[in-house]
Amino acid sequence: MFRLHHTAGTFTAVNPIQAVRWAPDCHAVRIIDQTALPERFIERDLRSLDDVCTAISSMAVRGAPAIGIAGALGLVASLGAYGDQTLDQLRARVAVHARRIVSTRPTAANLAWAVNAVAAEAGGPVASAADALQAMRDKAGALLADDIAMCRRIGELGEPLLADGARVLTHCNAGALATTGIGTALAPVYVAAEHGRRVSVLACETRPLLQGARLTAWELSRAGVPVRVITDGAAAGAMRDGRVDLVIVGADRIAANGDVANKIGTYALALASRHHGIPFYVAAPTSTFDVTIANGAAIPIEQRGRDEVARVAGRAIVPNDVPVDNPAFDVTPAELVTAIVSDRGIHHPPYRFDP
Ligand code: MRU
Repeated sequence: MFRLHHTAGTFTAVNPIQAVRWAPDCHAVRIIDQTALPERFIERDLRSLDDVCTAISSMAVRGAPAIGIAGALGLVASLGAYGDQTLDQLRARVAVHARRIVSTRPTAANLAWAVNAVAAEAGGPVASAADALQAMRDKAGALLADDIAMCRRIGELGEPLLADGARVLTHCNAGALATTGIGTALAPVYVAAEHGRRVSVLACETRPLLQGARLTAWELSRAGVPVRVITDGAAAGAMRDGRVDLVIVGADRIAANGDVANKIGTYALALASRHHGIPFYVAAPTSTFDVTIANGAAIPIEQRGRDEVARVAGRAIVPNDVPVDNPAFDVTPAELVTAIVSDRGIHHPPYRFDP
């Protein structure tokens, strides 16, 4: 992501942030700890299998593309700690580590996609454990480079959707923090701003973990892009009041028919957009498409813990004897999606994504 100084009517890109990267020795994955934002900017190095799994499940690293790359790099880092090992020992560990990393968060297609692609390198024509690890490291690095390129491409392809003065509503965080590049839903916003277009963003706070309030607001304001936070419940009213020109959200998994799983609350935004005649766009890289799934009914929805909903700032806000549901995602049916912006182009309904 870039900081965009507003100088004499134009934005200048400086000072990128990188949500996931190699630590300098390549034996650890360096992540921005997103649980600390916006109060503190902290980077953490993940070395062991436990480090990687805890960072993903606690959402220190989050966002579908970012957890895919963290899992891919993390798989390699977690295997480097064993010192001398035979090829057979390494292959057995690859299977165990990959399974555990993939199981941390079930909804985002990117996680299994990236981790399994790196794991497959260990099964290739390699002569030793060291060779296999090198092949895995190379693959993980290539996936990281691809993710950066896919985000940029989504930004370039999506930019024409934003007229000068466009007011974009978004949900959760599908920006630089959720990827290793300039984001997905926010990529067209950054590219438009780089080109001197006046764009502004209305960010839904995104209960319960507040990715919109904490993360989208942090990265956009840091970049010099005008952003205002609203409660999730205020979105439909903002649409009715004519304060939203278009909606752009990210995705965690897109089925072959174009049904989209994304952060809980996305479906309600799509319904309100349809009612008010506001275009509803989804932006996602190829790594988020799961063409093995015919439709959204087969997408696994992650259920998270009670306390994320029932406690705020350490205080109980739900009576102890009242149960809580906490699905992290919902599925928006393809018929509510105006278009899907991927790194391969802008897709219009009826959607049919093939392998
Ligand atoms: O639970 P999170 O914060 O990982 O959920 C993230 C989202 O729902 C994003 O919109 C999605 O992953 C796309 S990120 C480019």
